[in-house]
Amino acid sequence: MNSPKVVVEGLCKVFGTNPKQALNMLAGGATKEDVFAQTGQIVGVHNVSFEVKEGEIFVLMGLSGSGKSTLIRLINRLVEPSAGKVLIDGRDVAAVPRAELTALRRKDMSMVFQSFALMPQRTVLSNAAFGLEVAGVSRKERERRAMTVLEQVGLAPFAEKLPAQLSGGMQQRVGLARALAVNPSLMIMDEAFSALDPLKRKEMQNVLLDLQREQQRTILFVSHDLEEAMRIGTRIAIMEGGKVVQVGTPQQIITNPADDYVRAFFEGIDTSRYLTAGDLMQTDAVPLMQHSQPLDASSVAATLNGSADYAFVLDGERRFRGFVCRDAMGSASPQLNHIECIRRTTPLDDVVERVVASRAPLPVVEADGSYCGSVNKTNVLNVLTRHRGSHV
Ligand SMILES: Nc1ncnc2c1ncn2[C@@H]1O[C@H](COP(=O)(O)OP(=O)(O)O)[C@@H](O)[C@H]1O
Ligand SMILES: [Mg+2]
Repeated sequence: MNSPKVVVEGLCKVFGTNPKQALNMLAGGATKEDVFAQTGQIVGVHNVSFEVKEGEIFVLMGLSGSGKSTLIRLINRLVEPSAGKVLIDGRDVAAVPRAELTALRRKDMSMVFQSFALMPQRTVLSNAAFGLEVAGVSRKERERRAMTVLEQVGLAPFAEKLPAQLSGGMQQRVGLARALAVNPSLMIMDEAFSALDPLKRKEMQNVLLDLQREQQRTILFVSHDLEEAMRIGTRIAIMEGGKVVQVGTPQQIITNPADDYVRAFFEGIDTSRYLTAGDLMQTDAVPLMQHSQPLDASSVAATLNGSADYAFVLDGERRFRGFVCRDAMGSASPQLNHIECIRRTTPLDDVVERVVASRAPLPVVEADGSYCGSVNKTNVLNVLTRHRGSHV
């Protein structure tokens, strides 16, 4: 279950007559531009390594020409690598004989492209069943399966229509249905939604996310759109000039962009809505003390020592029990105040509301209730100015 679906190791592709020479130059520190200027060869993909886990949507994101399509063609072996290897289910794709490769692509890797290439003279149902037809599935069986996926993508009522009778967005759903009908263990989607207008695109993203909740497929999704990548990606790999410059969850990439290239994708996008309490909490801002019954005045004083206004009180299992304030310091029996915890995964907007309404910093806890950090108004303000910029 937890073994990776796809492993890519040191993958390189040079388009040209002397890839070895280009690879040597790259190994010596030359850039894609250097290689082109000196040898006329084009570096498509350079030294890319990553793993795609079973059941995740892994998004390849980058500007046009950064190597996304070449990379997925290397993975399904429509393009031969100049160096490196690809393992699918632990099997080296290079070792798969030609004859088997076609079957592998058909059965285990379904592709959805931007241009969906529906056959105009065939019905929606027949188009959706096409992958199965090629695979030799009987008519009755393939139409049954195609109908099921047409239902899933909301096109069942249009099964007997011709593609031309459908809108562009609906046609793209037929393309998706065709890929899904084969029930591939790996779906590869190259800019599958990029040609659609923003509303239709969002609708397709929702169709995909809904399907994904029901049946967790492994999906390799290519996009040049960061918002799309963040909406649907379990993890994102960002490509620049043939290389992968960063791999991470949307939150990891937003909170810690690797460089200016990555940061530039965020311009004009309100990234804050992808953040959660866990992304903005601090782990050492509020001093902690052990719970006792009653609270021990001298340990309250010792914990609040210095300038802390609040201390959090945890039990032996690090569960949050309450907080004490500086005002309680003089008291012989300091009072334990109660406050509701915030879950680490709470979205930023809910965090903001809670923090603004509270005088004290708020405790952040894991799903099992154990304490992991605190958020206060300053943390919220910082993250809003950093991520919303001019949107505030
Ligand atoms: N068949 C090919 N022959 C020569 N150069 C190619 C070929 N395919 C892609 N390239 C080059 O490889 C680089 C990466 O292209 P591509 O993988 O299509 O990028 P993306 O999908 O990110 O837009 C580009 O510089 C492109 O011009
Ligand atoms: Mg492309």
